[in-house]
Amino acid sequence: MSKKIVVLVSGGGTNLQALIDAEKRGELGEGKITCVIASKADAYALTRAENNGIKTRTLIRKDYQDIASYSIAMRDALLEEEADLIVYAGFMTILDENVCDTFKNKMINVHPALIPAFCGKGFYGLHVHECALEKGVKVSGATVHFVTAECDAGPIILQKAVEVQEGDTPETLQKRIMEQAEWKILPKAVQLFCDGKVEVVGNKTVIK
Ligand code: GAR
Repeated sequence: MSKKIVVLVSGGGTNLQALIDAEKRGELGEGKITCVIASKADAYALTRAENNGIKTRTLIRKDYQDIASYSIAMRDALLEEEADLIVYAGFMTILDENVCDTFKNKMINVHPALIPAFCGKGFYGLHVHECALEKGVKVSGATVHFVTAECDAGPIILQKAVEVQEGDTPETLQKRIMEQAEWKILPKAVQLFCDGKVEVVGNKTVIK
């Protein structure tokens, strides 16, 4: 039986596009993207979903007083959508245990660095790459991991390294990491999950 994937977005949605393209190629295993939920009304990711006939919803972070009330609304939306897997694809809001406990080991996130480097609260989007360049790392990359209430701390599923090049700007590094790592390992991790090949053992995963 197919698995319902709900994708959470806040911005441009290139990772969502990578998932849509992978599904079209038959590369999400049993997974099917059934709904995209945005935290911002103007997220271009919503247009990408509509262009591909995928149901969209908006749950605007600013409409809620705090993370707790937003998390409860999100949990209810995800229960309504009967989500088997929830994918954060450039979703820039932290959700609390109301969501993370309800969907334990069923939520995954793509982060644009090699965790545990350049991760945690405040590390998102272009800022991650600014910090990597400031530190002078020669290699960065991307990580797909399970989401827990602690930001970027859940069990790691896949990682891919990408070389930093002389003269990189945050923008050029972000683009290379998206192209060479994020758009590849996010669909791959979704496929592995949907095919039942990701086992969580303590704070680690075993890929079967
Ligand atoms: C991606 O690089 C993603 O890894 C990052 O934001 C970008 C969203 O791009 N996510 C985070 O920083 C989460 N901590 P997209 O909207 O084009 O997929």
